[in-house]
This record gives sequence, C-alpha cells and structure tokens, in this order.
Amino acid sequence: MLLTFIHLFPSPSKFKTLFSAPLQRQQSRRSNRTTSLPLFLCQILRNISTDKTAGPPPPTASAEPSVSVDKFFSIPPSSPMAAVDPHSFTDSTHPLTTHISLSLYFDFPSSTILASTLISLPTTHSGPFTLDTRSLSITSVLDPTTLTPLPFTLTPPIPHPVFGQSLIITLSNHSQVIIISKTSASSSALQWLSPPQTFNKAFPFVYTQCQSIHARSIFPCQDTPAARIRYDAKLNIPRQLFAVMSARHVDRRAPVVGSGEARGACDDSLWCGDDRVVDDFLMEQPIPPYLFAFAVGELGFRDVGPRSRVYSEAAPAVLDAAAREFAGTEDMIRVGEKLFGPYDWERFDLLVLPPSFPYGGMENPRMVFLTPTVIKGDATGAQVVAHELAHSWTGNLITNKTNEHFWLNEGFTTYAERRIVEAVQGEDRAALNIGIGWKGLVDAVERFKDNMEFTKLKTNQEGVDPDEIYSEIPYEKGFQFLWRIERQIGRPAFDEFIKKYIATFKFQSIDTDTFLNFLKANVPGIENQIDLKLWTEGIGIPPDAMEPVSSIYTKIVSLANEFKLGRMPREDEVADWHGQEWELYLENLPKYVEASQALALDARYRLSESKDYEVKVAFLQLAIASKCRDYFGEVEKTLKEVGRMKYLRPLYTALVQGAGKDEEKIFAKRVFSEARDCYHPIAQGVVETILRKYV
Ligand code: BES
Ligand code: ZN
Repeated sequence: MLLTFIHLFPSPSKFKTLFSAPLQRQQSRRSNRTTSLPLFLCQILRNISTDKTAGPPPPTASAEPSVSVDKFFSIPPSSPMAAVDPHSFTDSTHPLTTHISLSLYFDFPSSTILASTLISLPTTHSGPFTLDTRSLSITSVLDPTTLTPLPFTLTPPIPHPVFGQSLIITLSNHSQVIIISKTSASSSALQWLSPPQTFNKAFPFVYTQCQSIHARSIFPCQDTPAARIRYDAKLNIPRQLFAVMSARHVDRRAPVVGSGEARGACDDSLWCGDDRVVDDFLMEQPIPPYLFAFAVGELGFRDVGPRSRVYSEAAPAVLDAAAREFAGTEDMIRVGEKLFGPYDWERFDLLVLPPSFPYGGMENPRMVFLTPTVIKGDATGAQVVAHELAHSWTGNLITNKTNEHFWLNEGFTTYAERRIVEAVQGEDRAALNIGIGWKGLVDAVERFKDNMEFTKLKTNQEGVDPDEIYSEIPYEKGFQFLWRIERQIGRPAFDEFIKKYIATFKFQSIDTDTFLNFLKANVPGIENQIDLKLWTEGIGIPPDAMEPVSSIYTKIVSLANEFKLGRMPREDEVADWHGQEWELYLENLPKYVEASQALALDARYRLSESKDYEVKVAFLQLAIASKCRDYFGEVEKTLKEVGRMKYLRPLYTALVQGAGKDEEKIFAKRVFSEARDCYHPIAQGVVETILRKYV
C-alpha cells in the first residue's frame, strides 16, 4: 500500500500516515475517551467492550474455534415460539416489520448514539412482541400516538454474548411502537475513530458493519434477513461532518426546534444545538437489516460515472486515487445489467473506509463499503467492486432467509462476480480467480475437517456465531455448484435461468429448498443429472466439482509444485505476473518449507515487501509456518496497518497454531494487545477467539 502510493504520488507522506501506520495511533481512541476517568472505570469499560467473547474457553478437540456458543450460555430461543432464524429472537407468530423510522443523535465525545426507533408493522398486534438487541440500553418504550410508556422486559437477564437480549414489548392492538435507546462502547456494529486516527486528523469518524447480526447493536429490530424493511433516518451530527447511508440522501438542513423530530432520542437542547445539522435519508426498497449502513466523518467525493461517486475522507489525493481505481464502475454496472437484469437501486456509490474496515467490501445497497487496501493502482480493486456490485442482484435483491443459506448470497455473487470479471477483464483473469478460489475451497474444507457441518452449503447454525464460521465454503462451493449446473445445461440456458430466477424472487428472502424447487421446475430432469442433495447437504467437495482449465493457471500450479522439488521460478517465467498470479503461486506452495527456501524466494522476488496485501500476507503466512522469524517485523507492521480480517485471521492463526510456537505466541499476544483497540469490534472478537483457542 505504502509503496503503491509512493509510486503513484509525488508526495506520499500523507498516504504513509493514512495507510501504513494508522492502527498504531488509533490506540488513542479508547484511552483518549477514558483518561479523565478513574482507572477502575477504564477497566470496567474495557470489560464491557470485551463481553462478546468473555466466558468459558471452547473445547479443545476441534481444529476449528468453538462455534456452538449455546453450550455455554443460556440462549435463545428460550420461549416455545417457532423460531424464524437461529440467530434471532424474532417470533414466527409475530408480524414482520415493514418500516423503521429512525432519529439518531451522534454524540462523538462519548462515542454513543441516542436513538429513537419507530417500528411499523403490517397489521395490529396484541401481546408480546419481540425484537433483537445487543449492547443497547433501553430507556423507554412508547405508544407513538399517546406517548405513554409500554411495558417491556429484556431476556435473558445476562445477555447472550453473541445474540444479545430479546426486547419483549407488550402491545395491545398496536401497529407501531417507539423504542428509545442508547448504544454502548461494545455496540459491535460501530467503529468510532478519534481525530488522530483519521487521515486528516481534524474530525472524528464513525461507521457501521451490520452483517451478519450486528444491526441489533445500533437499534432494536427483528434482526433476521427474513424481514425486509423500508426505512427513513434523520442523522443529527456536528455541522462540520457529513453523513452517508445505504439510502437516498434527501436533505441536509438545520434541526427544527419544537418539531418533535428527535422523537424522544434526546431533548431539543441537544438536538437543536447551534453546532448541529440533520442529514435526512430515505430507503424506499425493502432491505434486510444487515444491509443498514452509515458513515459519518469529514467526507468528500468524486464522480466516477453517471450513477456513481466514490466517497472517502476529504483528502484530495485519496479521492483522486480512488476515482482512478474505480473509473470502470459504469462499464461493470452495464455488464451486470446485461447479464442479470435492470439495476434496481438507482445509484451505485462507493465509500472507501479507513484501513481498519474489517472486510474487503460490503454490499450496502446504493453505497458499497470498501477497504482502502483495494486501491493498488492496478485492476484488482475492480474484482472486489465486481463482487459487491454483483450483490445488487444476488444478495440484495434475493436474500438468504437465514444465515444457514448464506451460500445463496455469496455463492451466487461469486458466480456473478466472475461473469462480470470475465466480460471486462477476459477469460484468463476469470480462470485465475476460479483457481485462487479452488485452493481457498480445498483449504477451507481442511480447516473444518473436525467440524464438517460447515463444509455443507446448507448448514445447521443453531447456537453458532456467524462471524466465527465465516469461510470460503459458501463462496467457492456455492460457485462450484452453479458452475456445475452451467456446464450441464450450457451457458445460454443457464443465463436465461439466472435472469428468470432474479426476476421471480427479487425483494424476497428465500432458502435453499426454494432455489432447488425453482431449479427443478425450470430445468426439468436436472435432479437426474446432478446430485442436488449431495451438493447442498453433503460435506466436502463433490466429485463433479472442477478446477479451471486455463494454460496460465496450469503453468502457475505446476511451477508451485516444482518449488517442492527445489526449483524456483526464473525471472522470465514471472515477468508478466501481477498480484493474482503470485497469490495463486504462493497458495499452491506447501504449507511450510525450509526457512532458507522462504528466505531465498523472498530475496529474489521481494514478496514480503509487496504493495499487494494478498501477496504479502500469503508470503508472511508461509514464512511464519516455516518458522522463519526474520519476518516478525514485517508481520507486526502488517497487523498494525490493516484491520481486514482476511489478513488478520491467517497471520494470527499461523503464529499461534501448532506445537513449539512459544515465541510466536508471546509475539502474537503482544501485537494484538497493542493493535486491538484499533481493530473493528468484529475483528477484535474474531482474533480473540483464535488466541483463546491456541494460546
Ligand atoms: N458480504 C460480504 C462481507 C461479509 C460477509 C460481511 C459476511 C459480514 C459477514 C462481502 O460481499 C464479501 O464477500 N466481501 C469479500 C469480497 C471478496 C469476495 C471479493 C471480502 O470482504 O473479502
Ligand atoms: Zn459477498
């Protein structure tokens, strides 16, 4: 990253601070906020913020972190209701929310949001009505017409560390209810950055990551993708800041005194302060709660196409680099429309987040969120954009009903992404991506060898934290399944099938059986040609899955195999390799080699210094597994530069997994203790689970 920016810009010093050292400085966040507090209070805040992962250690037999959390905690669903979703307290006998109206007051000094949430139901309801909450304090629940308090309880009394608490409200013939609540330091969807943690260092920044079950930590909701909800939101923020959302921006205006628009979130004295402004948003298409998103900070933008802007912190050089990287966005949208039908979300904007963003990209509708690590000055950023764009059809239009059918989102999107990449970058590039994915699939199956449930497409996730079982299985096995169907019926027929599938189920949340029934109805006899049950319910990789056929792919894999025999690729063989070629090569090397071999490879090709994190991290992973301690400095720098979990997981795991790793374990613990506060809460939880398992 740093090298890229030195390469791209005459004056790289600002980039150096943004992209190469920010996490270290981000430590000031929590300490800033708590320095004036007594030490014990700091400790309490710290404990609160780690409660997600507090609790007894996981069992030791599995090669995989413990995933079945309900073995240890009293958890939902405790009532005899029919559950809609194993990750939600939502009761199937209750109406599903159709609209949410939010008034949010952002209090940056305390890193909290005061919220008023007006929930609308399609019918009136009497008796208990259940919502999900996590790390929220509920101030009151009100009848919207009379503003009289309504009775409510929170259960279980000790919140479940992953699912939180159900807020059970007693309704009597209500079709609307208001909940007044406040977020806390452990609201896992939110990352608050203090001014020193930002690029310009002048203003604070906050952003969300709600997938899969974190929306409930911002406001109470039926936090299941089975619900599809329209919303409007008033974001009350300091007037120097700007807000963006996964919704249409309607207005930016002064708060209106006496209008009641805060709807109880806070008093007018706060809501209508001189230094405040309100950004109004409207989301007219119904979305699952995990697609709710906002960011607030000193934001700027550049137009990159007729319906696309790229936003980031208002730093001209960052914006210019991002605008260059994403210049091909409109071409990709057009390819997507040709393949999958009309783009239904009006705008496709991009938000480049600070380096602590825990994912490569997140498909928030109308505005995808992206890690800055994709801005590399080559075409690879386009792959992540192609993926998030593809979600506009597969995931956002058609959504998995619960996370147990997550492959419907990610497998379909991986297939769609590769079709877009093939159209804009060519067949060889798509084949390389399929090849990288194939290795990822093989490795993910190995990761779950003692817990094969999670190698299925349709999984049982009762009591399971979705963040902990996140893997490439739904992406790559899902892709392989769809590619297998394409091979069976031919591309033209499969293209027609996909278009019809999208048109049929758009704006619905569906499960695997719904997909299979539609497939069987539209491709008669398919069940006699492909073992659909084995593909969707079986473990591991079915025998009719396939590696890509491409000469570049085959050449790289055979060069990797030759490394095992002691041959390193010659300069002329790698002369036209870019990041993805190296990534494929490194991933096909043995898990570990002689330390001297790793050093020799790096001496020749400088992989540990690559500006491409995919390459750098793949090499560092090999170096750590090969007990080559020369790279501890580079590993530490990387773990403090970026918070993308795709890099944190393999590096921390390589450090602590296996025997004879005392020095590595001490190192990993120290680096994490220094970097922790700079990671997004979701990433903190994931790294803690890795360390808890092995250290
Ligand atoms: N929706 C995912 C990110 C996600 C998944 C967040 C599950 C939370 C829970 C997103 O579309 C994604 O897959 N991102 C990838 C991009 C890659 C496949 C090009 C990532 O972040 O690496
Ligand atoms: Zn995705």
